[in-house]
Amino acid sequence: MKTQVAIIGAGPSGLLLGQLLHRQGIDNVIVERRSGEYVLSRIRAGVLEQGMVDLLREAGVDQRMDEEGLPHDGFELAFDNRRVRIALDALTGGSKVMIYGQTEVTQDLMEAREAAGAMTIYEAENVQPHGLESDHPYITFDKNGETTRIDCDYIAGCDGYHGVSRQSIPKDRLKEFEKVYPFGWLGLLSDTPPVSDELIYARHERGFSLCSMRSATRSRYYLQVPLDEKVENWSDDRFWEELKRRLPEEVAQKLVTGPSIEKSIAPLRSFVVEPMQYGRLFLVGDAAHIVPPTGAKGLNLAASDVNTLYRLMVKVYQEGRTDLIERYSQTCLKRIWKAERFSWWMTSMLHNFSAEGDFNSRMQLAELDYVTSSKAGMTTIAENYVGLPYESLE
Ligand code: APR
Ligand code: PHB
Repeated sequence: MKTQVAIIGAGPSGLLLGQLLHRQGIDNVIVERRSGEYVLSRIRAGVLEQGMVDLLREAGVDQRMDEEGLPHDGFELAFDNRRVRIALDALTGGSKVMIYGQTEVTQDLMEAREAAGAMTIYEAENVQPHGLESDHPYITFDKNGETTRIDCDYIAGCDGYHGVSRQSIPKDRLKEFEKVYPFGWLGLLSDTPPVSDELIYARHERGFSLCSMRSATRSRYYLQVPLDEKVENWSDDRFWEELKRRLPEEVAQKLVTGPSIEKSIAPLRSFVVEPMQYGRLFLVGDAAHIVPPTGAKGLNLAASDVNTLYRLMVKVYQEGRTDLIERYSQTCLKRIWKAERFSWWMTSMLHNFSAEGDFNSRMQLAELDYVTSSKAGMTTIAENYVGLPYESLE
């Protein structure tokens, strides 16, 4: 088999890249380890920056997002028995975010890909990239007892944090940066109306909590929990009781509870690998970086990597500009480090770090009080939350 760009992984990164390339006439094949149903069963993020919304439009997958997505022009910070609204549009000159689940984005991209007749190979085992330093890279995989080889010009490693792509680069060519937090988020999805029209990020002595949503009838809530916590220890009742204790009283009183549809714990981590390319292999999205979810940046950073690689491939195939390829990593990393900073900062300010003592706790409150009483402080939060501009290639 032969293609121009071989894409490993059919998460949002791989599917979005594939769709954008396809629309520019650049042939690509996606090879995914899991089944399509499995990929769609993962409950992940839900806040899209304007840049990602625009990119989805460019990929031609905006119809359902426009019908069902919820544009949000603000969110709230709750701390010290106070609620402060961050007016995203007013502070940024009109920017907003879109509430639309990653699962929905993935489903729309899968359907668009199928309609376009582009090839995705699901349940491919033992996917391996080869010849990365040569001009003729290829990937191999096993399916139904047969090994298949796909020759290509470039390989996009869109296979997430645990994927094979990053692991295929010699260790001495990569530098990894990592920070592991001593807690995780326990998430609960329920068919109950959201407690508020806007997201609420709440700091509390008992731990952080977040009120989010997927629609007018579906809510997503999170609680900070210790790293070794087990989801089996959290009945729905226990979750709702704990959430109420961490929210401002008037919010807690309005909370509508109900049975959970999904409950899971995710650890919090900051991770970046440099560089994000090796020969003809490019790392995209979670394969190259992880952010803690407090800034809602994971999915959006994947989209900005896709944007960079997509524009670069268009330059290569439409203008013969192979000289720009070397800029992929540095272009992506500029924006990634700024999103890492924002995510780390929001995480540091809003979670309970009991091991750090009372001084740290007072610093958090002073910082929250300062940033929310200063126009400059609020603007800093707002402009990062709606997403910093995409970096240009030239
Ligand atoms: N071979 C083929 N496919 C693989 C392999 C492999 N060795 N390893 C992993 N995959 C697949 C996974 O099954 C998954 O479907 O790659 C895909 C990676 O998808 P994601 O982990 O979702 O990563 P990405 O597409 O970069 O999405 C960005 O943003 O909000 C965050 O973490 C959240 O998933 C989200 C991410
Ligand atoms: C979510 O709705 O899942 C969500 C929203 C905002 C975040 C993280 C997760 O910061």
